[in-house]
Amino acid sequence: MTSLRVAPAPHGLSGRLRVPGDKSISHRALLLAARADGTSRITGLSDGADVLATLAAIQAFGARVERSGEGLAVQGGPGRLHEPESVIGVGNSGTAIRLLVGWAASIDGLTVLAGDMSIARRPMDRVAQPLRLMGASIDGRRGGTRPPLAVRGGPLTGIEYHLPVPSAQVKGAILLAGMAASSPTVVHEPVATRIHTEQMLAACGARVDLAPGRVTVHPGSLQAAEFKVPGDPSQAAFWVVAACVTPGSDLTVENVYVGPQRAGFVDVLRRMGADVRVEAHDPESSTADIRARYGPLQATDVGGVEVPGVIDEIPVLAVAAAYASGKTTFSGAEELKVKESDRIATTVTALNALGADAEGRSDGLVVNGGAGRPLQGGQVDSAGDHRVAMAAAVAALPAAGAVQIGGWEAVSTSYPRFEEDLQQCLGQHG
Ligand code: S3P
Repeated sequence: MTSLRVAPAPHGLSGRLRVPGDKSISHRALLLAARADGTSRITGLSDGADVLATLAAIQAFGARVERSGEGLAVQGGPGRLHEPESVIGVGNSGTAIRLLVGWAASIDGLTVLAGDMSIARRPMDRVAQPLRLMGASIDGRRGGTRPPLAVRGGPLTGIEYHLPVPSAQVKGAILLAGMAASSPTVVHEPVATRIHTEQMLAACGARVDLAPGRVTVHPGSLQAAEFKVPGDPSQAAFWVVAACVTPGSDLTVENVYVGPQRAGFVDVLRRMGADVRVEAHDPESSTADIRARYGPLQATDVGGVEVPGVIDEIPVLAVAAAYASGKTTFSGAEELKVKESDRIATTVTALNALGADAEGRSDGLVVNGGAGRPLQGGQVDSAGDHRVAMAAAVAALPAAGAVQIGGWEAVSTSYPRFEEDLQQCLGQHG
């Protein structure tokens, strides 16, 4: 286990930086490139361990991957893909395992998917159930609900399915399987979730029909495409909140994806009175620069249909809430319990270890803000969760003393360069 000591930043954070490529888009770019006929090119891919697991997975299935200039060239197509020779390791990545189950469900042979201790407790029935309805054979621990999972691939038929839990991972798995089915597949979602799978399938030539709350994919072949992966808004959120809560800050994160269901944290922070601006917006690529400056924050309520669009940002938004005036509530977010850690418990524990006043609820958390008063220094454990570790690092920057974050290695799953980027934002003052 490694730990990181983050000292207070008395001069704030400043300058411009770029975050890793979006994790959700990176996983999908690799899976679609491996399935598409021809050679796809991918630039800007996330360098986190989660995405590297998907990269290794597509190679194990027979896709050919080569470095090409700034990015990767992936030679794929159904004719190349075959039963993998050994277990596919997904590490800590829930997105990798859930998308891969759907992606592999039509590939003849046996696919076994396994990951770390955190993956072993994450629910897989939400993907296994609809895929079984399509004709896939999926087994796993605890009655087929927990990894490792064994998928016996074969012919699939399309289904019409109402997602019981709003989840882009589950929607994505069903749509990826649906591309190889014998009839169209329709997914209804009660609340909108991120739309990367449907958009990127369409970019590969798939026929995708979109209606409010409903997506239909028509089976067919996919064509190679060029994927330019933009910066990850969920990583940008750490720097944006850091700038909002640390006196003296004026920071811009460049080239961030701001498409549907991903930039909700900007709205939440603005509601809190933060000085956050979306600049240089390019609607074509759904990217923008996000500029954030320090200022006083007020409490807000986060809940309802807004939740899927901020679910990954709640640990760091809770840090913003700890520095705001008043009581912030996060509700309707029970999904937090089944992320890389039980993020209701681990976020509350991390904040309170630094002297904040946070309390867990069955569907979220309540944070009584300290009205800008610095949190204390202290020790925080990541609980093996990258976002909890990075949220603790953000909480440390305006704090009264240094914060020691145990289990820091978890950050490599999504943001291996975090420390270097922090040094860069601290500039000569660091
Ligand atoms: C993701 C969807 C979300 C999100 C995860 C990435 C995706 O999970 O929390 O980090 O890439 O589809 P759910 O689908 O479980 O809501």
